[in-house]
Parts: sequence; C-alpha cells; structure tokens
Amino acid sequence: MDEKKEKTSEELSRRDFLANTAMTLGLVGSLGAGAVYSVKYLVPAKKKAKFIDVLMGNLKELPAGSAREFIDGQGKKALLVNNGQEIKAFSKICTHLGCEVEWHAEKKEFYCPCHEGFFDANGKNIAGPPPRPLDEYKVTVKDDNIFVALKEV
Ligand code: FES
Repeated sequence: MDEKKEKTSEELSRRDFLANTAMTLGLVGSLGAGAVYSVKYLVPAKKKAKFIDVLMGNLKELPAGSAREFIDGQGKKALLVNNGQEIKAFSKICTHLGCEVEWHAEKKEFYCPCHEGFFDANGKNIAGPPPRPLDEYKVTVKDDNIFVALKEV
C-alpha cells in the first residue's frame, strides 16, 4: 500500500514538474518577446543614408596632378584629385588623429604633416601611423562633368 502511495506521489510530482516547466518556459518566452518589442519601440530604426550626386566642376578645371578642396554634405573638408589616371575624392581628415592631409602632386600622394603619415593616390595608408585608408567619396564623370556622391543632409 505504501509503495503504491509512493508511486502516485512520485507521478504527481513528475506531472507538477512538467507543468511548472511548461509554465516557466511560456513565461520566459512571453517576457523575451515583450523585451524585443520594447527595445524596437524605444530605439528608433536607423535611416539608410541617401546620397546625391553633386556637380563639382568640369574635367578642364581639374588638370592631371591637380586637386581642389570642397566641403562635403556633413561640413567636412575633402579633396577632389586628378591623379593623372582618374578622378578621386577623399576626406582631408587623416585617419590617425584627425589632422588635415595635403595632396603632393609631384609624388602623387597625400601627406599628413602632424606625424609624417602618407597615403598613396588611391588613399591607401602607406607609411607612418595612419591605421587605415582615407575615407573616399564615390566620383562619377558624365560628359566631362565631375559629380561626387554626398550624403543628403
Ligand atoms: S594625424 Fe595624421 S599622421 Fe597623425
């Protein structure tokens, strides 16, 4: 008789355990879903940046080896460069500590005077402390007109 009672008690306990486990999993799932929707509600979705092609001038105004400074849509200084092979545009902000780089046409490279940093004509860091290439803008040439894709403000 006692053995039978123990079995029943054990079965009930197992049933209780399964019921409690199912209830706990359901509760955790509900709280998790609630947390995800709360975060989505509180943190606004990132807007995808829009770019517009801005006319920077004509090829005749930018002969081989020359560069021209411009201000991008975010108010940052940048350089439009004719490296003799193609037209490129780069941020003037050095990727080391943020000094302004200069274009050296005779060597076809960018130079940062603050800590002797060098970048090649494609903006790649080639010497000195800069850890990565210069930020580059997309350039398009249509009918001899030069356009640079700038972030819409
Ligand atoms: S800021 Fe340009 S090399 Fe340091």
